[in-house]
Amino acid sequence: MKEKLKIVTIGGGSSYTPELIEGFIKRYDKLPVTELWLVDIEEGKSKLEITAALARRMLEKANVPIELHTTLDRREALKDADFVTTQMRIGQLDARILDERIPLSHGMLGQETNGAGGLFKGLRTIPVILDICKDIQELCPNAWMINFTNPVGMVTEAVLRYGVHKKVIGLCNVPIGMEEGIADILKTDRKNFFTTFAGLNHMVYANHVYKDGVDVIDEVMGKWGVQSVKNIKAMEWDSNFIKALGVIPCPYHRYFYMAKENLEDELEKYAQHGTRAEQVRQIETELFELYKNPDLAEKPKQLEQRGGAFYSDAACNLICSIYNDTRDVQVVDTMNRGAIGFLGYDQAVEVSCVITKEGPVPMAVGDLPDSVKGLIQQIKSFEIAGAKAAVTGDYYTALMAMMINPLCASQRDARIVLDELLEAHKKYLPQFFGDWKG
Ligand code: G6P
Repeated sequence: MKEKLKIVTIGGGSSYTPELIEGFIKRYDKLPVTELWLVDIEEGKSKLEITAALARRMLEKANVPIELHTTLDRREALKDADFVTTQMRIGQLDARILDERIPLSHGMLGQETNGAGGLFKGLRTIPVILDICKDIQELCPNAWMINFTNPVGMVTEAVLRYGVHKKVIGLCNVPIGMEEGIADILKTDRKNFFTTFAGLNHMVYANHVYKDGVDVIDEVMGKWGVQSVKNIKAMEWDSNFIKALGVIPCPYHRYFYMAKENLEDELEKYAQHGTRAEQVRQIETELFELYKNPDLAEKPKQLEQRGGAFYSDAACNLICSIYNDTRDVQVVDTMNRGAIGFLGYDQAVEVSCVITKEGPVPMAVGDLPDSVKGLIQQIKSFEIAGAKAAVTGDYYTALMAMMINPLCASQRDARIVLDELLEAHKKYLPQFFGDWKG
């Protein structure tokens, strides 16, 4: 066991950081972090100072001797790191608001990680993540990058294809949320059943739920009603549809299997009182007011209003299992290596994995029904096109990504929305507008 454990969080000014700190505190006996660096950029400096001050109060109250550092220079932080977590929003919330409002202004779904919005979050994020990979490879080549910057699926695919550092694991809180939903249905705790997951990020399905030696998935499918996450309206599933599907869908599948209802709902919010990103901006303002309170020395409950709640705890859990070679099962985004038969061996998938000190080992979780293979393949093609467009800056590759995605495929609108989003995000897309160092 290493006596010195250094962890770096890029995007340390995030409102989710208190949950990360809480995660390290509660695992300190198993995960003796000695150094924690919170890294951000100039635009996030004031948020970084607020989250770092709260983190220090949390560590002091818990009497946990983690040395906390902050910096705007990630290279300074990365030296000899053991784990690097990445949680950033290139262009901050303003960029997300544009990702949501511009497609909706043309009657197309505008969502953080799906469709046109997801593509543009990927186009902005992937070059930055690949740059971070270069720094990691140079300054801490043995470190694991634990990425929960969205769109996690496209980002993981991009790092596996184009990154110089391959020790990357994508992470999401959706599978944990689904297990909580299954626990509610089975009226038991998560540890009393075993669920297997397979698919892509925000496109993942549960295909087995083992309890007392029996697969009880039929019971769960029959009651999979309104399980969701804070950022997705809990429209009720038709249990007969789910039984016909043959697997349990995740909350994000509502954008595909209830596309029209969701678009109507998003268009109404857009017209009435703003999109999810504008709601989040209000939540963030309230959270940072709370975080400033010098008497606050714990993660406030209000953080659970965010859709990404429990992400950070999942990250701490993953780091702890790698460090201890726990060999427990967690759902992460990693190279497929044959686990999901109908997807490419070296493609990024979201799947149940055994977590070892060598990293995630995907499990052979069994097949998925034909009813879902087509959609998964389509979204994988979208992720591949998006990743390629992000690293090439090629207009027609970006247009192809739009046309592949069922949530934005149409010759006229796809091109109009693509052009408007490119223009709106010009500052963050040098690869499309010249002076791209590649
Ligand atoms: C989720 C997803 C995250 C996403 C978040 C959005 O549950 O797993 O990937 O970023 O919700 O939540 P927000 O509160 O930002 O709308």
